[in-house]
Amino acid sequence: MTKRIGILTSGGDCAGLNAVIRGVVGRAADGLGWEVIGIREGTLGLLSKPPDVVTLDLPMFTGQVMRQGGTILGTTNRGDPFAFPMPDGSEKDRSEEIIAAYRTLGLDALIGIGGDGSMAILRRLATQGDISLVGIPKTIDNDIGSTEFSVGYATAVDVATQALDMLQPTAASHSRVMILEVMGRDAGHIALAAGLAGGADVILIPEISYKIANIAAKIERLKEQGRNFALAIVAEAVKREDGESAWVQLGHGQTRYGGIGAYLAAAITQATKAETRVTVLGHVQRGAPPSAQDRLIAQAFGVAAVELIRAGKFDRMVAWQNRDIVDVPITEAIAHYQAVEPEGVHVRTARWMGVCFGDT
Ligand code: F6P
Repeated sequence: MTKRIGILTSGGDCAGLNAVIRGVVGRAADGLGWEVIGIREGTLGLLSKPPDVVTLDLPMFTGQVMRQGGTILGTTNRGDPFAFPMPDGSEKDRSEEIIAAYRTLGLDALIGIGGDGSMAILRRLATQGDISLVGIPKTIDNDIGSTEFSVGYATAVDVATQALDMLQPTAASHSRVMILEVMGRDAGHIALAAGLAGGADVILIPEISYKIANIAAKIERLKEQGRNFALAIVAEAVKREDGESAWVQLGHGQTRYGGIGAYLAAAITQATKAETRVTVLGHVQRGAPPSAQDRLIAQAFGVAAVELIRAGKFDRMVAWQNRDIVDVPITEAIAHYQAVEPEGVHVRTARWMGVCFGDT
């Protein structure tokens, strides 16, 4: 039976979103003859009057699109429909407007591609509006529960690894300690994986507390061994030694993590007299072309989400577990925040190779 399904990307963008959309369109429109309606800018597209949507078909994806970072549909990580920021500074519950727009479009189901925050909001909308929802996990932070990988994470790790590859020669040329600050929100997955893959001497993640004295001792040991440089990578949510988070102020009273690299550089210089420099990697971790692994996961998730709709299984999220795709209740995925396991394989491997986490 033919269907008309909606798809939207929500929350911060990342590499691989267009490959997810390609997977959905390939299976639903090309394979099953369904109509696929792309909703622009997440739920904002459903607040537009008329709804801001585009019909998607496979020829749109034959060229560059799958290779591009970002999302052709646009997205937003502001504008929670249950507490929508209004021009006068107040907040308004606009959830019923979104549900009404969904009905107007005559959609049989909705595929929401998002992180844990978006997934929670979409699920609330789905429950309230009786929307048949299927979720696809995406976030460079890789912190969604019940899935080993979220779309975008592999590319972010590749970008951060390449940054360390490029920092090493200049660190060695100038006998410097290079500090790379990476994203990841409250989890240290990117810093840990890229630090290990990129040969960092020091890896600092929010899940393991550190002392500057331990980092300084590691740098001194490297010097004694004849090394003239050191590479450190730090996750943005790592706190200062006094327990305070490093924040940057954005417009409209918003804040985000930022600045821990500069704090560490000053502290390390003071403790070791080493010359330090800081690189804050920022949004290049999200806008890069998707890696092969992200494209594979993305397309597999897209196809599997369509299959869930075909099977009439809703309120579920596709997930990667044990080298395969499974589906789990969305509630289960968002109930468990997936931080780094301090005894996990990457931490153990790094420790065995002498990498300093700052705790000893
Ligand atoms: O959640 C993804 C993420 O890139 C985090 O790693 C980072 O802290 C945040 O989003 C940045 O958000 P924004 O795009 O609003 O600067």
